[in-house]
Amino acid sequence: MSKGDNIVILAIESSCDDTAASILVDGEIKSNFIASQIAHKSYGGVVPELASRQHQESIVHVVDSALKAANTTLQDLSAIAFTQGPGLLGSLLVGNAYAKGLSMGLDIPLIAVHHMEAHILAHFIEKPVPDFPFLCLTVSGGHTQIVRVDSPSQLKVLGQTIDDAAGEAFDKIGKYLGLPYPAGPEIDELAKKGSPVFSFTHPQIDGLDFSFSGLKTQVMYFIRDKIASDPGFIDSNLVNIASSVQHIIVEILVDKLQKAVQLTGIRRIGIAGGVSANSGLRNRLKTLAPENEWEIYIPRIQFCTDNAAMIAMAGYYKFIEGQFAKLDCTPMARLPMDCN
Ligand code: KG4
Ligand code: ZN
Repeated sequence: MSKGDNIVILAIESSCDDTAASILVDGEIKSNFIASQIAHKSYGGVVPELASRQHQESIVHVVDSALKAANTTLQDLSAIAFTQGPGLLGSLLVGNAYAKGLSMGLDIPLIAVHHMEAHILAHFIEKPVPDFPFLCLTVSGGHTQIVRVDSPSQLKVLGQTIDDAAGEAFDKIGKYLGLPYPAGPEIDELAKKGSPVFSFTHPQIDGLDFSFSGLKTQVMYFIRDKIASDPGFIDSNLVNIASSVQHIIVEILVDKLQKAVQLTGIRRIGIAGGVSANSGLRNRLKTLAPENEWEIYIPRIQFCTDNAAMIAMAGYYKFIEGQFAKLDCTPMARLPMDCN
């Protein structure tokens, strides 16, 4: 392949605890490589300093692997896309500095990508892709949002969490249950073997906003009270606790999604972000879709959790629109979505 024939984008994702790189050629993902950090497991959460050091160790190998897997060289690249934010500053800095270095060295444009927008644009990696407009329930470790998507560059947040994110609720409750970080996938697996026999109440939050911090406290108090009379309560009820926690989180999410459909009249729905890998959520949406005449779009799990293919896809749309970043652009731990 020679430069100029195709749009070839190298994308780098380093916002949290995954170092990832992907190659996209003319809108098609050719490789998608990821090194997930396991160093945080025993700490019950991501340790920012450890994360940035691990990104530094992995990034050269990860980019190299993505290039090789796509049978591409640095000289073939048209642009470098990287995650500008939101995320952990030290982690973002590694991807940002590496992308800038390559952009300068190769004299090709730099594209700054918003991590949450990229989660949504992961819907365009594989067919079937949604038509516009669609609603996207974007649920990750740090965000819980309902976004109206009118085009790849027109995204409007209709509602979001006022405190903890859905993934954070999974992770914090899981930590309390003694599960390793990230607890979301662990709770998902345990829930498959249990039933939602314990009931928790829905938070009363107006409009399309969410709240998960009260639920976390509710579950913790419930378990604390049970343990007072039965010290082995968690061990003997783990699968049912997991199932009950997952059930209420999924119901809170789906409830707001139903409200968003009522308010907007849009019945085309996508899900994005790490929590969209949850089997309870995926199954619930599949059941609700025919009942409510929803057209649902559920990306493969590898494109729901953090990955660089989604950064490449978002970078591709920016490339087409000529939206390039300057070399003095900085990573941002907090970064609002465009067009709000
Ligand atoms: O999007 P993501 O990979 O990283 C962020 O941008 O935050 O999301 C990570 C979050 C974590 O809270 C993790 O526990 C949750 O997604 N998660 C899940 C599942 N897989 C990942 N939560 C519930 N069920 C899952 N299967
Ligand atoms: Zn993410």
